[in-house]
Amino acid sequence: MHPFICPCEFSKVCTLNFHIEALFRITYGLFVVSSGDRKHGNGFISNTVFQVTADPPQFVVCCNKNNFTAGIIEKFGTFSVSILEKDTSSDIMGRFGFKSGRDFDKMKGMSIKYGLTDVPVVLNDAIAFLECRVVNTFDAGTHLMFVGELIQSALLDSKKEPLTYLYYRQVKNGSAPKNAPTYIDKSKLEKINAAGTYKKFKCTACGYIYDEEKENARFSELPDSWVCPVCGSEKSDFIEV
Ligand SMILES: Cc1cc2nc3c(=O)[nH]c(=O)nc-3n(C[C@H](O)[C@H](O)[C@H](O)COP(=O)(O)O)c2cc1C
Repeated sequence: MHPFICPCEFSKVCTLNFHIEALFRITYGLFVVSSGDRKHGNGFISNTVFQVTADPPQFVVCCNKNNFTAGIIEKFGTFSVSILEKDTSSDIMGRFGFKSGRDFDKMKGMSIKYGLTDVPVVLNDAIAFLECRVVNTFDAGTHLMFVGELIQSALLDSKKEPLTYLYYRQVKNGSAPKNAPTYIDKSKLEKINAAGTYKKFKCTACGYIYDEEKENARFSELPDSWVCPVCGSEKSDFIEV
């Protein structure tokens, strides 16, 4: 049992170990992260761009290994980050966040600027951008964390506010696909949370413990005819522990 009173829907009896809403209290921005050059450019929507050191200024981008852009960043060793404005169009979110550059040229028809390394920078709905050279790559399982040293940065619009993940989720009703590090597999979560609510019951005659998690069945769902597998006592002789 948690040593605090949980304000969630289960209130004081909450035994959940994994609250989705707690994860959403971490704040993020939303960005188009691009890589490549004038001929081969591609980009994807990311909410995981962070500054990790000040001197030198280094930024990390977390990119799913299955993203087409991952291979391009590895090949070219550079990436740009377009910081999106609050009212970024759903076209940009759809093109860069839900479709892959394997299937079409995402840069075609976009307003693009090329950086000092020739990396494409998507200007549509961007209020600022960064250009980075990759100095380190960490394997985080499903994702690669690219650490890039800043080469240049520029402000494109000083009046508009940046788009946050919270605003995108709550006001725009936006979601994130499987490749996003913050994607939540609800069925998996339900299983984890269900595990936190399993109970144990003890036979008052012989002390045998019925463990719902081990048996993968709730004690309440056992038929009335069920008896203790050790001493044969009735179901009603069990108490919750
Ligand atoms: C709101 C949102 C946030 C996302 N954040 C990330 C992220 O941080 N890292 C990641 O690898 N993919 C993230 N994605 C998923 C990619 O943008 C998506 O898989 C994209 O289609 C990959 O494109 P690509 O195959 O052309 O590289 C996010 C998508 C959305 C809509």
